[in-house]
Amino acid sequence: MPSRVGAGSFLQDVAGSRRMLFGAAVSAAHLRDAALCEAILRETGSLTAELEMKWSHVERHEGQFEFQDADAVANFAHAHQKRLHGHALLWHRSIPDWAMKAGRLQDDWDSIERFVAAMARRYSGVESWDVINEPIGPAEQPDGLRQSAFLHAFGPDYIRRALVSARRHAPRAVLCINEYGIEYNTPEHERKRRGLVQLLAELRRDGIPLDCVGVQAHLDLSQHHHFDPAVFARFLDELGAMGLQVRISELDVKEKDSDGSVAERDRAVAEATRSFLSVALQNRAVGSITCWGLSDRYSWLDVPAGNRGLPFDTDMRRKPMHSAILDALSQRQA
Ligand code: XIL
Repeated sequence: MPSRVGAGSFLQDVAGSRRMLFGAAVSAAHLRDAALCEAILRETGSLTAELEMKWSHVERHEGQFEFQDADAVANFAHAHQKRLHGHALLWHRSIPDWAMKAGRLQDDWDSIERFVAAMARRYSGVESWDVINEPIGPAEQPDGLRQSAFLHAFGPDYIRRALVSARRHAPRAVLCINEYGIEYNTPEHERKRRGLVQLLAELRRDGIPLDCVGVQAHLDLSQHHHFDPAVFARFLDELGAMGLQVRISELDVKEKDSDGSVAERDRAVAEATRSFLSVALQNRAVGSITCWGLSDRYSWLDVPAGNRGLPFDTDMRRKPMHSAILDALSQRQA
């Protein structure tokens, strides 16, 4: 029987004792918040820049790299001995305007290569990179791939080219493909799971550099009744069987609405977290949990009365979601 941990424990301490990692996404601007920083320092072992390393942020003007914000996150991580996860090299929603203009990406792999090289060189301490973020399309498409500007410009090979570039420039980093909308037992999520598994299997078959798959896990209370432990466990087995590491990479819980008392809302968020993680952490390939933020004070999610889908509330107090993560971690065999 795995040992239980006290409710006062810190997430990374328990994760570490199970040879796992607990992390959070942060923004440079939020690092000015002392209370948030205190919680980050105590609770996390790894940090992810929420937006600062994205292409549209770093290279707003062609050829002019602006690293200040990404540096702020990287320097903070370094100063406090936190691991750093690089997010995200190719994402269809973070292509700079100049690259989008007039089909500018067509035949211009050089600009992508230059960005990948610049990031890998400057952030050589990054332990892992999301090389491709969200490659699977939301609707029925050939190969299941998203009809992104990358796909239109370079065809499906853009994924291989990016992974090869990333390996060349960051030879020691763990290379990841990160995806959302693959957690629930709905036709849409099932279709995305199939598309992702097919893509990963082809990349593995052809020896393309790839080490890891990130399951974003933006849970959603309006969908959570579709969470089917057997279906999700089977999916994780498929990923693990391909020899890939698996990460829960962007965990948070979107509320349906803000009806109900705070206690009820927090209980529902914690329950969704608990049911999801208890399945995810049973799989040995799953090695880390990253929350997309740590506190409701800074969440990209919103409901009219402020979404409560992260482990700390806006007053930086632990919520039942914190206990749910602790419990799931503590039940993992070391
Ligand atoms: C989001 C950030 O949280 C926002 O602040 C930003 O405006 C847009 O991007 N999936 C991802 C993340 O992979 O990069 C997204 O982050 C959330 C969804």
